[in-house]
Amino acid sequence: MEEPAIKRIGLLTSGGDAPGMNAAIRAVVRTALSKNIKVFGIKHGYNGMLSDDIEEMHIRSVSEIIHRGGTILYTARSPEFMTLQGQQTAAANCRKHGIQAVVVIGGDGSYRGALDLSAQEVPCICIPGTIDNDIACTDYTIGYDTAMNTAIQMIDKLRDTTQSHERCSVVEVMGRNAGYIAANTGLAVGALVTLIPERETDVDKEIIAKMKFTRKIGKKHFIIIVAEGAAHAEDLAKEIEDKTGIESRATILGHVQRGGAPTLRDRVAASRLGYRAVELLARGITNRVIAFHDEDLVDFDIADALAMKKSLDLSLLQISDTLSV
Ligand code: ADP
Ligand code: F6P
Repeated sequence: MEEPAIKRIGLLTSGGDAPGMNAAIRAVVRTALSKNIKVFGIKHGYNGMLSDDIEEMHIRSVSEIIHRGGTILYTARSPEFMTLQGQQTAAANCRKHGIQAVVVIGGDGSYRGALDLSAQEVPCICIPGTIDNDIACTDYTIGYDTAMNTAIQMIDKLRDTTQSHERCSVVEVMGRNAGYIAANTGLAVGALVTLIPERETDVDKEIIAKMKFTRKIGKKHFIIIVAEGAAHAEDLAKEIEDKTGIESRATILGHVQRGGAPTLRDRVAASRLGYRAVELLARGITNRVIAFHDEDLVDFDIADALAMKKSLDLSLLQISDTLSV
């Protein structure tokens, strides 16, 4: 077997967890061990680098996790790591364990951390893990599919009670400043209107008038989806009830969207990403973000990846608007 260019790597999950992170951890550990690379699990994101919560991982460290949500390495948001002193301490702890490079599974905040760490001469490879799908360089992020499937299961349940009471349900979904979860979920549940941060919604024209019109032509209940970055469900439900007289309820789906067994798509994506991360490291390639371009894997320099922009396909809302009457 060819000698790997890098022989000891660290592995962490950072930022909000996402279903499929465990499958990615498993892929990194098992691929690395197959190439004679030692893996050190760093607990609680960058916090574990600061507190030296670092342990070697083995083949059986990642048994029975491919189907589990969450992350066995735990995750955190670490303000201390954002200071230069924090980054120096983190890098010193990596060196103490002989860690030559770190695999960071997380969102673009975590990639900024990875850039800072590489400035302290601990290079990184980043894997996109977030339910929000808001990482510009990639078409897909680990956890996105599971989160949307969880959301539609919850909203299908809500529909039953919304329909029985002939009410309006305003459902707030996650996504931070992006509307990917909302736009797709809205189409999938037949929402009357979907509000996303990428597009201004005229409440009177697009929601109130449409509700009044569709009620006249026989519509009995209404589902409105709101991305958390676009509006607050409670405020919108109140405005709708005040302006239409139709009883309205707000439901914030919240963190249930981040849990549960990853879907097939997330397990496959996570396994491919983790495998590719180690392939690059074994060849001595670092400071890259691995990304999906359609179904293919590509990789970008971390700084270039952070400077990219991506835009949501607004035609999803157009289709939804036509179909939901
Ligand atoms: P995500 O990775 O999901 O986007 P965050 O934005 O919360 O999540 O970032 C996760 C962690 O990455 C932060 O808590 C911090 O430790 C680190 N981080 C984020 N931004 C920076 C930065 N500009 N410099 C250094 N570290 C950062
Ligand atoms: O980035 C994932 C995410 O779940 C976002 O959708 C949401 O805005 C945020 O994290 C919530 O963060 P916290 O877990 O800190 O409440």
